[in-house]
Amino acid sequence: MTSTSESTPMVRMTDVQKHFGDLHVLRDIDLEVARGEVVVVLGPSGSGKSTLCRTINRLEPIDTGTIEVDGCLLAAEGKALAALRADVGMVFQSFNLFAHKTILENVTLAPVKVRGMSKSDAERTALQLLERVGIANQRDKYPAQLSGGQQQRAAIARSLAMKPKVMLFDEPTSALDPEMVSEVLDTMTSLAAEGMTMLVVSHEMGFARKAAHRVVFMSDGEIVEDSTPNDFFANPRTDRAKDFLGKILSH
Ligand SMILES: Nc1ncnc2c1ncn2[C@@H]1O[C@H](COP(=O)(O)OP(=O)(O)OP(=O)(O)O)[C@@H](O)[C@H]1O
Ligand SMILES: [Mg+2]
Repeated sequence: MTSTSESTPMVRMTDVQKHFGDLHVLRDIDLEVARGEVVVVLGPSGSGKSTLCRTINRLEPIDTGTIEVDGCLLAAEGKALAALRADVGMVFQSFNLFAHKTILENVTLAPVKVRGMSKSDAERTALQLLERVGIANQRDKYPAQLSGGQQQRAAIARSLAMKPKVMLFDEPTSALDPEMVSEVLDTMTSLAAEGMTMLVVSHEMGFARKAAHRVVFMSDGEIVEDSTPNDFFANPRTDRAKDFLGKILSH
């Protein structure tokens, strides 16, 4: 039996290990994300940030350790896995919208198919969400007819339509033209302000400073630092973090 209460972390990873062949890609990962907390994950390319996200909704299996979402151990397969996956929204660098469905259909599909919502309820919710991310007027277009920033906001609305308990973002702005980055970050910032629990892989320092409660720095599959944004940016403790910050702040 599991029990959940306000004090149960929304995500709890305990002693998680994962290899890809000989590569030890996640090492001794202990990470908790509290309800309503926004955690930004930073680290060099190949340090395991995407893999970390993907293990949380079981897109990648782990070798050993445990991952709990809202107090429930992630099941390896079956109905329980589908339910847990629906609780964990994920937004990727590439927008992953269904190309042959309209924006509205993209947002209503899973609530109808997975949550068993009626079509009219799903459409009502979808329109509210599209309104919230500022693209309700794009509802009848197909993804290719939208800008990258609009597509990414549609992807966020689609995830939110499942009423997830936690949202994972893996470099959601890195494929966008610069002028579209801020509209997506603004959407994420308001989501954070509304109390959504979020784990965000992003090198957008402005977002980290403004919206994050914690910054987690990964290197070679390990969590090397875990501190407040102010502390991390002003006083990185390890050489690896100093080196990383030197590189990203200088370009
Ligand atoms: N499916 C896979 N099979 C084998 N190796 C993989 C696989 N996915 C990732 N890796 C390796 O695992 C390591 C961590 O990859 P991961 O994508 O998690 O890094 P990352 O921190 O997200 O990097 P980036 O900043 O470039 O996105 C890398 O060395 C990568 O090459
Ligand atoms: Mg990555």
